[in-house]
Amino acid sequence: MALDINKIREDFPILKRKVNGNDFVYFDNAATSQKPNKVIDSIVDYYKNYNSNIHRGVHTVSQEATDAYEGARTKIQKHFNVKNLHEIIFTSGTTHSINIVANGFKDLLNKNDEIIISGLEHHSNIVPWQMMAETNGAKIKVIPIDKQGELDMEVYDSILNKNTRLVFVNHVSNALGTINPIKEIIEKAHKVKAAVLIDGAQAASHFKADFQELDVDFYTTSAHKLCGPTGVGILYGKEKWLNKMPPYQGGGEMISDVTFDKTTYADLPHKFEAGTPNVSGAIAFGVALDYLNSLGFDNINLYESSLLKYATKKLKTISGLKIYGDNENKTSVISFNVDGIHAYDIGTLLDKFGIAVRTGQHCAQPIMDHFEIPGTVRVSLAFYNTKKEIDKLYNSLKQAISMLS
Ligand code: ALA
Repeated sequence: MALDINKIREDFPILKRKVNGNDFVYFDNAATSQKPNKVIDSIVDYYKNYNSNIHRGVHTVSQEATDAYEGARTKIQKHFNVKNLHEIIFTSGTTHSINIVANGFKDLLNKNDEIIISGLEHHSNIVPWQMMAETNGAKIKVIPIDKQGELDMEVYDSILNKNTRLVFVNHVSNALGTINPIKEIIEKAHKVKAAVLIDGAQAASHFKADFQELDVDFYTTSAHKLCGPTGVGILYGKEKWLNKMPPYQGGGEMISDVTFDKTTYADLPHKFEAGTPNVSGAIAFGVALDYLNSLGFDNINLYESSLLKYATKKLKTISGLKIYGDNENKTSVISFNVDGIHAYDIGTLLDKFGIAVRTGQHCAQPIMDHFEIPGTVRVSLAFYNTKKEIDKLYNSLKQAISMLS
């Protein structure tokens, strides 16, 4: 089924606005996605009609809110094909999820243990492991990237060994859009009995991951990348791992029994959900998944691939423009520079034309260091973008370049 993009665009009120007197063109989807009316309405509906704390009240409205919150967990379970509902922990987003695992592994590792991360990681996938390694002395090894911005899997094979306890890789690079071979990474890690955590923040809006089929130990994503609200995400973990890890935060709801001598913890998933959670956010996350599934992820992927192909071909005709990570296997992200012009200046001028892109290091300084550049202009496309918008980008970019040259 081909997507009716004009009809889809009607679902996103923000796409109608003007920016600096121009039609708004939003090409910063990797930073955060725009929100359809259904998602926005679900948040308003919650606060207008059944706002209440959850799991705590005997009253009707609390029960309605609890049912909606837990209903969202069930939608997520179905979407990602998760075996047990309690293996899904609501968090504030991917960074929070990664920190739960890094904290959990503090006591599980010692100085002879090794963890492997990839050279394509976001800072949120580097810093928590460094903080963890400072406490237990574990060694961090890195899978380097090649000239194309893809992981060097031969080096992965060579650094993986019986001391490897955890492998940590993003499903898709936020800076380049590269899709990593996570199935192969997981299979090889499991041969040495290492656990694998996949950061799916940049993947989940483009395609569905099947956690059981991947046999992944941990997977995380944020709702705001897939048309949901900010401040909510998930940590998926296999029951056996989540049970081994200590709670990340203490507080209400995560306990079973509290005395001044000793506290015992609640069962999964509540052990990791201390305090009042983002109730409306979790509910809206479920609504966002319903929305995307009603469009169909195969349709989204097909359309985004056609946009990527069109934009890549067009941008490549601009003299002096270099794309980083220009691979076959990537999502709809184009990260580029133009000879002699700073990415920030291009981004600033594009904004004057109403076009939103991200510029800079994209929280991935090691990738920029690898290419020996200070940063890039990143255009990230979503299913509600159009070829007409790409034409506008092309024309505005040419104008910006002539102004800056
Ligand atoms: N991690 C987000 C990005 O890549 C914010 O822009």
